[in-house]
Amino acid sequence: MTSHVKTEAAPIPFIDVATQRARLGSRIDEAVSRVLTHCRFVNGPEVAELEAKLAAFAGARHAVSCASGTDALAMILMAWGVKAGDAVFCPSFTFCATAEVVPWVGATPVFVDVLPDTFNMDPASLEAAIAVARREGLNPRAVIPVDLFGQPADLDAILPIAEANGLKVLCDTAQGFGATWNGRRTGSFGDATATSFFPAKPLGCYGDGGAIFTDDDALVPVLKSVREHGQGIDKYENVRIGMTGRLDTIQAAILLEKLAIFEDEIAARDAAARRYNEALADVCTVPVVDPRASSVWAQYTIRLPHGTRDALAAALQKEGVPTAVYYRIPMHRQPAYSHYPAAGNGLPVSEQLSGEVISLPIHAYLDAATQDRVIAAVRRALGA
Ligand SMILES: Cc1ncc(COP(=O)(O)O)c(C=O)c1O
Repeated sequence: MTSHVKTEAAPIPFIDVATQRARLGSRIDEAVSRVLTHCRFVNGPEVAELEAKLAAFAGARHAVSCASGTDALAMILMAWGVKAGDAVFCPSFTFCATAEVVPWVGATPVFVDVLPDTFNMDPASLEAAIAVARREGLNPRAVIPVDLFGQPADLDAILPIAEANGLKVLCDTAQGFGATWNGRRTGSFGDATATSFFPAKPLGCYGDGGAIFTDDDALVPVLKSVREHGQGIDKYENVRIGMTGRLDTIQAAILLEKLAIFEDEIAARDAAARRYNEALADVCTVPVVDPRASSVWAQYTIRLPHGTRDALAAALQKEGVPTAVYYRIPMHRQPAYSHYPAAGNGLPVSEQLSGEVISLPIHAYLDAATQDRVIAAVRRALGA
């Protein structure tokens, strides 16, 4: 007997950590089990091994692991002594953590607009924001370019502006770890880089985690001190204000296994993104990667005419296709941040993008059949 009730298709995961886990098989269990045997849950040998491998992967002299991407950003500002009266320039179109850490140290975030094609910091808007900060009597101190959705910011333009204005450069590659700019991996640019190992990130652990990259030998002992309550000769001598910022040994052990397959996963993510681009370019604005960059596709984000994305999200949801909106409210419009200064033009691109973007499922295990389901559903919903 045939049913007249249309069966809902099985829901597609937005990010598929389960398939990755199956691929890694017993390796994760064995890595965790080794930690459970040696019991060095904090500062165990896997932490130092991971730091060495992360630094080599990124092409940085040093990697300092820590408890989250947010802590990574905060620890760098703390180690640099960024303080009240200092201006730190952040893109408005980003996850809140980029700017959140700035008031933690008493400094002022100054919001900068982004570019409409790459969604990353607009160098001209950065120059405008520096002028605004000076007019407001702030001391321009640092800039935080963000590698949004997995693509590095325009470092060729931002680094010289930073140098000309005496700004430290803190690269936020929470979403872009593994991506390249002019053939070099993120983590090897600027004065220091922060990344995140939150489970949904391209390289994620099984909880919270993060890392800092730098070539600055003198910064490393300061970061390590900040990570352990501002310790001097030991934890019981406190020479600065610090935090509990360490990465758990179990997370380091898990990350070591995941790092071993990360390059292969980046290639799979890139292939999926290219496939989406080819299949969707005629029905929506597909993401653009700068020819100097490669992306790790933390998100695959399309743009639609203002006011139409909620209908797309609803239509896709009915077909078991999840979507997400990163970010619905730009930082300079957020209630907790709207009183901070911004580059003088109202940040029109950040405002426009926040009304137009929507992200589709992407991960290294998105097989062609599943992706075809997403593509067909998007095309149907957009009337193609
Ligand atoms: C751009 C950006 N910066 C910082 C963070 C903070 O990382 P975490 O969640 O590990 O604290 C995230 C991710 O959540 C992010 O996307």
